[in-house]
Amino acid sequence: EIPSLYKLYEDYFHIGAAVNPYTIKTSKDLINTHFSSITAENEMKFGSLEPEEGKFTFEKADEIMNFAKEHNKEVRGHTLVWHNQTSDWLFTNKDGSLTDRETLLSRMKNHIDTVVGRYKGQIYCWDVVNEAVTDSGENILRDSKWLEIAGEDFIDKAFEYAHLADPDALLFYNDYNESNPVKREKIYSLAKGLVERGVPIHGIGMQAHWSNFHPNLDDIRQAIERYASLGLQIHVTEMDVSVFNFDDKRTDLKAPTAEMMEKQTERYDQFFRIFREYKDVISCVTFWGAADDYTWLDGFPVRGRKNWPFVFDENHQPKESFYKITSI
Ligand code: G3I
Repeated sequence: EIPSLYKLYEDYFHIGAAVNPYTIKTSKDLINTHFSSITAENEMKFGSLEPEEGKFTFEKADEIMNFAKEHNKEVRGHTLVWHNQTSDWLFTNKDGSLTDRETLLSRMKNHIDTVVGRYKGQIYCWDVVNEAVTDSGENILRDSKWLEIAGEDFIDKAFEYAHLADPDALLFYNDYNESNPVKREKIYSLAKGLVERGVPIHGIGMQAHWSNFHPNLDDIRQAIERYASLGLQIHVTEMDVSVFNFDDKRTDLKAPTAEMMEKQTERYDQFFRIFREYKDVISCVTFWGAADDYTWLDGFPVRGRKNWPFVFDENHQPKESFYKITSI
């Protein structure tokens, strides 16, 4: 009998998985047994929910919510404000010109009211703003239509609107490369500003799109400590551990090599040791998928390259990494 991952972690943090309409069918038993929290991989993003102004399409999101209800899973909401997977109408006027700040903020508010309001009391936390910090240059915020049209405080507004729509929901700022020292400091200063201005933010989401090669463990520790020093809780929101170095061009592997698996097991062991050490500040660890048969990393960033980033294999069987992280 294989022990349940989330049950073994009950004294530490929630264990989550990103799901979609396909995986809630093909990985139903796996998700039920091993995960206590789910996140919609794409179905609650702006473009999915409001493809046309005021015309909301909740079918797929509701399907995921129904799955959660039926199987008694918590739901992390992802995501309200992002520069990606967002409908074009949001930033433009009918004549195609860029819209103004007031219009954009009112569209943002309407979207947040509608979405957060619909799932009030059912979605216990939201990634309110996703990936607003830039990876390059001196600026803190990335160039985006949100920034260009509404100005820097679009972030404050998003949190304020979300808090009004569901005062009990925990509100997160979520980003990747969160352990890189330069980006870490940018995320830190953004979050610090929010906290100091009294904006309702409760946590930082560390996406944790990691690999056998990146990042180093010390950078992860420092990121956790830095974010936690603001009095915020931390969720690991989108974890996967690629077996490849980012730009490894090999597309011919049909299965991971023994060396890759060994390294990945060691990495998972190290990562989860750190998470357990910081269990007082980390309250949820979500994988960006469930098992190696489906991952957004298939074909990214190298087209045609399959990846095996999780602790369950393509047949939903536990990998060595599973046994490592559950030896606690
Ligand atoms: O729905 C269309 C489908 O109609 C079409 O036939 C198909 C052809 O390519 O595309 C489908 O849309 C794809 C969508 O996933 C749903 O499968 C998009 O092309 C594809 O770009 C999109 O990728 C998603 C990506 O976000 C978009 O940026 C991934 O599934 C999703 O895992 C990924 O998730 C993000 C997090 O939200 C934020 N952090 C990074 C993470 C990984 O990129």
